[in-house]
Amino acid sequence: MSTLKAVRGTRDLLPPETALWNRIEETARRVFARYNFGEIRTPVFEDTALFARGVGEETDIVSKEMYTWEDRARAASEKSQSLTLRPENTAGVVRAYIEHKLGETGQLQKLYYIGPQFRRERPQKGRYRQFSQIGAEVIGPPSSGSESPLRDAEVLEMLATLLDELGITGWTLNINSVGSSADRARYNEVLRAALKDVAPKMCVDCQRRAVTNPLRVLDCKVPEDQPYIEALPKISDSLDEESKKHFAAVTAALDAAGVPYVRNHRLVRGLDYYTRTTFEFTHGGLGAQNALLGGGRYDGLSEAIGGPKAPGIGFAIGEDRLVLTLLAQETAAAAKVDAFLAPLGEELNPAALALARELRRAGLSAELGDGSFRLKKSFEAADKTARRIVILGEDELASGILTVKDFATGTQTKVPRAELAEFLRKSSGE
Ligand code: HAM
Repeated sequence: MSTLKAVRGTRDLLPPETALWNRIEETARRVFARYNFGEIRTPVFEDTALFARGVGEETDIVSKEMYTWEDRARAASEKSQSLTLRPENTAGVVRAYIEHKLGETGQLQKLYYIGPQFRRERPQKGRYRQFSQIGAEVIGPPSSGSESPLRDAEVLEMLATLLDELGITGWTLNINSVGSSADRARYNEVLRAALKDVAPKMCVDCQRRAVTNPLRVLDCKVPEDQPYIEALPKISDSLDEESKKHFAAVTAALDAAGVPYVRNHRLVRGLDYYTRTTFEFTHGGLGAQNALLGGGRYDGLSEAIGGPKAPGIGFAIGEDRLVLTLLAQETAAAAKVDAFLAPLGEELNPAALALARELRRAGLSAELGDGSFRLKKSFEAADKTARRIVILGEDELASGILTVKDFATGTQTKVPRAELAEFLRKSSGE
């Protein structure tokens, strides 16, 4: 008999990695509670029509990636029904919002979820057929302020805080606006016209998309196609005044809160329900599947699935990708020495050697720079080899207070020389 294995695209999670999954989920729950979110748990399978109408019949998810089956009636009182394993959770949350008449409370609903999703995609690093999302949705009647750009900025600020608290370093927030559905329809036509002459020179997928769904051309990753895509008209030029104003208010609030972002004109996302703000947090360490999370506004979704007007905004984090990023960071950190000593001037070299000897004798690993290096060169060398840099200048030598900068957290701390070894050991979690 052949041995049975986990199905392609699915995985077993074993200890000790499961401890990391639990830590991530605990941190997420703690941060969400601070922002007044409550947990919602919706079923893992739903009526297929929910995704067809909510996510969109034409999307890759609905047209090719869903696990759908005909559920046969078991009694005369039942009807056969087409069911689908949820490929995402936003449509299910909005269905529950409508079903339980949550809009009638008049309050903004702030709901989060953690759980498995299913898509029949081609498996690769960071892409699975069963994967886990940590997501949240803010939704309510217009009178609850659900349309306000402040909600968008608050959600993005919460995500920046969550990633920082998880210890994810080096993320980039990409944002864009896809406008109202009328703006998008207008842009689709503008793109279609612009692609008429260009598409024949592009890859076969783009040739097809140029006809079926021009927006998807913007997702193309084929290097030869990039110059053509960069030259295409931008969606920002097709937005009406209201959408432009809304987006400007989102970015102004992000600026005020000090959340860094880049405007990415090509970020249009692969689900049909989006309106106005769309975003993705990417991470360089993830390779081709570089989106840690994605989300945006969906002001028309409730009505599209038969509910009342209920604008909303939300996101879903790929938990598998969070874990991959944290594990890669840990491996990189483990390969680095505890501290890089940077003497400021050649006359400080002997003092630096003495300090290195102290640290090494205390069991810590240290790399020694050279006083002839400029500070910038010391920082570059330190960033490659060490977790922290310790600056040793005349002032430090005289006062006995050293400056330590941690590369992972970006924090700078003043530490008395006598406590340096202890400080380095403690902040390494040893
Ligand atoms: P999405 O961009 O389709 O959006 O998925 C969100 C995140 O889930 C992605 O950025 C990625 O990290 C992760 N993900 C997606 N597919 C896979 C896969 N096959 N394997 C591993 N991870 C994956 C949504 O699902 C929307 N519901 C997000 C949202 C919430 N928009 C508004 N509210």
